[in-house]
Amino acid sequence: MKPLYLMLSMFAIGLTSTAALAEATSIPDAASLPNISPANSDLVNRGAYIARAADCMACHGDDYVGGNAIETPMGDIYSTNITPSKQYGIGKYTEKDLKNALKKGRAPNHMIYPAMPYPSYSGMTDEDISALFAYLQTVPAYDEAPDYKTSLPFPFNFRFLMLGWNVLNVPSTENREGLSATQERGEYLVNNLGHCGTCHTPRNSTMGFDKDNYLSGAELGNWYAPNITPDESSGIGSWSEQDIVTYLRTGQLDQRAYAGGPMAEVVAHSTRYLKDEDLGAIASYLKAVPAVQTEDKVRPVDASRLPSPINESITHDLLAQDDYLTQAKAEVTGGSNSPEALYLAECASCHGVNGYAQPDARYAPIVGLSSIRSDNPDALINVIVHGAEGASDTTPKMPGFEEELSSEQIANIANYVRVKFGSLPSSDLTAADVDRVITAEPEQPFLIKYAGWLAALGIIVAIVIIFFIIRAIIRSRRNH
Ligand code: HEC
Ligand code: HEC
Ligand code: HEC
Repeated sequence: MKPLYLMLSMFAIGLTSTAALAEATSIPDAASLPNISPANSDLVNRGAYIARAADCMACHGDDYVGGNAIETPMGDIYSTNITPSKQYGIGKYTEKDLKNALKKGRAPNHMIYPAMPYPSYSGMTDEDISALFAYLQTVPAYDEAPDYKTSLPFPFNFRFLMLGWNVLNVPSTENREGLSATQERGEYLVNNLGHCGTCHTPRNSTMGFDKDNYLSGAELGNWYAPNITPDESSGIGSWSEQDIVTYLRTGQLDQRAYAGGPMAEVVAHSTRYLKDEDLGAIASYLKAVPAVQTEDKVRPVDASRLPSPINESITHDLLAQDDYLTQAKAEVTGGSNSPEALYLAECASCHGVNGYAQPDARYAPIVGLSSIRSDNPDALINVIVHGAEGASDTTPKMPGFEEELSSEQIANIANYVRVKFGSLPSSDLTAADVDRVITAEPEQPFLIKYAGWLAALGIIVAIVIIFFIIRAIIRSRRNH
């Protein structure tokens, strides 16, 4: 069944492959904005671009009707309808209301939970908010009543508690000194519009950003958002600015990185639409932030240990590729449960015998990817267990293997992939490692996060009390 699937997608994609090859040498142009707004004024178009850079669609949906559940340790928080519907959307909002929502987390009648990244948006400029407001007023209104409701358990249902939280955690970042104009633009895109830190910065005990470890990587449900500071061993210090731009535009970087999880969505909804100069500004800023060295080292690629690509004629010819795979399967030693046999049986139809996949079909080459070179194997195990969604609509999806393979088989394949394509000297993952990842709660450090929220609550309550005491003191002074 898989080869057939492969053939069909090859056929469909093959038609565009010549163009793809021509493109491969330079960074493709920014994708043009799909127009969901009928208006076409400069202001509205600028707003549409801001919405992309700020990735409002990631949570509010392609047509801004909302209803996506954002999982938190306290329960699901649903994104809301932000179309201009007067009854169910933000049709009655003034520009000031939008500004309060984005910068202070304050909707006209309630406080917004920080599942909406207002701690990052708090730095947005007035001009950008004006443009965004003009744009959001022109998208089609959605007038259906929501069939979902956010109801968190006591005490989190008291939305006003967010006032206390906001004192501690908004804004989520500070602007750095001594940046060039380009880097300042990059800082604005990374910290405020792009809210990159919501995934890439670990949280402190109050669930705010751990500012000392800014952008140094964080657990994200089943995924891991890597360290993107310029540290050489654990971050992206070895990437050039051009590399960063290529990755943000296309979701991949040959032999180095592939966006297959949450980052694939960021690329698909947001960064591939950004102008060259804006991606360049992001790259330049990411080079200027302090390097943070974390424990989860990403081992440098040892090129001498990587397999060499088979010759061009096999790589680009589907039938030759198929014969090559059959031959490799016939030559494999160690029985059908050996790591190599498992890889060839389950993975090679897409990723190729040598891991270079089939560039023609835009299947993901996996040689040298950072996700398979890091000491922490969870990201790799997760991909094999749950599969991966593509950053572009043309790539076929990788299925998850949780049902099909045993934990031991998955561990064997992971070891094979890490050593053969990641150039690690050795890898000894066991079925227990795989089970740990499979049984982990979607929000992995569940207890830690939960404890974090409890601590936050204590602090929030303390702040609310202090607030009332101070107010009482001020009032009593006034009265005297
Ligand atoms: C990471 C997810 C996420 C992103 C990105 C996001 N939002 Fe939200 N937004 C939410 C959630 C969740 C809520 C509801 C929170 C609640 O119930 O308190 C929300 C609520 C809102 C509200 C309040 C609506 C109301 O009156 O109840 C507005 C306005 C809003 N978002 C606008 C935006 C805009 C504009 C953008 C892009 C600049 C954006 N959001 C990006 C998740 C997101
Ligand atoms: C929704 C969460 C999320 C947001 C927002 C996000 N990222 Fe990511 N990012 C990830 C995850 C998870 C990965 C790991 C790759 C994957 O998802 O396939 C990643 C990978 C990356 C990588 C590759 C690092 C490596 O070593 O392979 C870079 C660079 C990166 N992100 C930059 C950014 C920038 C810049 C922004 C803001 C414009 C951003 N990210 C916003 C979750 C996120
Ligand atoms: C049906 C085709 C298919 C099969 C079979 C398949 N993959 Fe994938 N795999 C993909 C695609 C496509 C991607 C890239 C995801 C994307 O488009 O973003 C990918 C991505 C990956 C990545 C990179 C993830 C990241 O974000 O760094 C790894 C590692 C990987 N696959 C390993 C495997 C292993 C191991 C197997 C066998 C157990 C396997 N794949 C089977 C299609 C496949």
